[in-house]
Amino acid sequence: MPLIAPPLSLYVHMPWCVKKCPYCDFNSHGLRGEPPPYDGYIDALFADLDADLHDFGDAVHGRTVHSIFFGGGTPSLFAPALIDRFLDGVRRRLPLAQDAEITLETNPGTVEHGRFDGYLAAGVNRLSFGIQSFDDAKLSRLGRIHSASEAETAVKSAQDAGYRNINLDLMYALPEQTQEGALADVARAVALQPTHISHYQLTLEPNTAFAANPPPLPDDDHAWAMQEACEQQLGAAGYRQYEVSAYARPDRRCVHNLNYWRFGDYLGIGAGAHGKITDAARGEVIRRWKTRHPKAYLSAPGSKERIGGSGAVAGDELPFEYMLNALRLIDGVPMADFAERTGLPVERIADAMAQARRKGWLTDSPDRLQTTALGQRFLNDVISGFLD
Ligand SMILES: C[S@@+](CC[C@H](N)C(=O)[O-])C[C@H]1O[C@@H](n2cnc3c(N)ncnc32)[C@H](O)[C@@H]1O
Ligand code: SF4
Repeated sequence: MPLIAPPLSLYVHMPWCVKKCPYCDFNSHGLRGEPPPYDGYIDALFADLDADLHDFGDAVHGRTVHSIFFGGGTPSLFAPALIDRFLDGVRRRLPLAQDAEITLETNPGTVEHGRFDGYLAAGVNRLSFGIQSFDDAKLSRLGRIHSASEAETAVKSAQDAGYRNINLDLMYALPEQTQEGALADVARAVALQPTHISHYQLTLEPNTAFAANPPPLPDDDHAWAMQEACEQQLGAAGYRQYEVSAYARPDRRCVHNLNYWRFGDYLGIGAGAHGKITDAARGEVIRRWKTRHPKAYLSAPGSKERIGGSGAVAGDELPFEYMLNALRLIDGVPMADFAERTGLPVERIADAMAQARRKGWLTDSPDRLQTTALGQRFLNDVISGFLD
């Protein structure tokens, strides 16, 4: 089956935070009083991007970028002038779609007045706020650097600055949280009228302070009940769930994340960033990731040392990788996409699909790969069924 190049996105990782949160295993490093090497990092991002464009050659040459996502870490540590300089450099190197979605992750504790106008002028048209909770006691338990009212003020000033596309990240199943507490957080999020809400279950990640010293978290059944109650409240407020943790107003789903979940392509630049590129001419799906530590990443900009690893995804791993993404989407994906994006015939997954259908985990639709409500509940088992 011929591979067909899917839409292309750009992910940019900013690996610093004011302070490391005890639950977080993202590639983020607390500043400990020292500012990041701002301009040096932007230079290193350009060198990384140039080297990737050179290495991937015809597999990316001339392809339009449909979305850019500044993730972290805390990208909002970078002043608007730096983001402007970066986006300007991207436009010089790549065709950027006129209506490209450009998202910047923002910690409400880092955005003094005036920054939002600058980001907007630079081309950022979507902000994603790390809110986590609107309960000050919970925020302090989570080691956050802002209060609930500071978070609300930040969101309102972004709306005043003219942003029409705003996501709020909330977490639930927090230490000693009740269902009422989780619902109260959702109510305060909804009251701010963002266009998108990401609602994550707090998980204990290895090598975090919480894993070493676990707080008392609600058990799985309580967490599931919280999720269902919050989903209902979000639905009633006009936010439809379209992915395991993502809820959006009509037409406000995140273009960038949808591209990941549909097994689209993305260049990944910055410390620890992951990329995935379809080389249709060679019939390969290539993954490449960058060295994680900022110091190592910065030590030789654009050199081979910036690459943490890379290689073509083996054919027998593609069905699992594809499902890992696609089945997170509540509406699933068109069946035809599987062959276009993996280069494998759909017969390759016929047995696994039949088994998942017998268990009631996938719908019977011949045209879509889509989980049932039961399949969403047992998503890890459903996806494991596609391991070779
Ligand atoms: C890179 S952070 C967002 C921006 C910014 N760094 C901040 O925290 O304000 C991405 C999001 O992942 C979520 N997250 C991080 N660690 C998590 C964990 N252990 N369990 C669940 N969600 C987590 C949080 O909601 C967080 O806002
Ligand atoms: S949750 Fe956000 S602010 Fe906290 S350490 Fe992780 S990336 Fe940094």
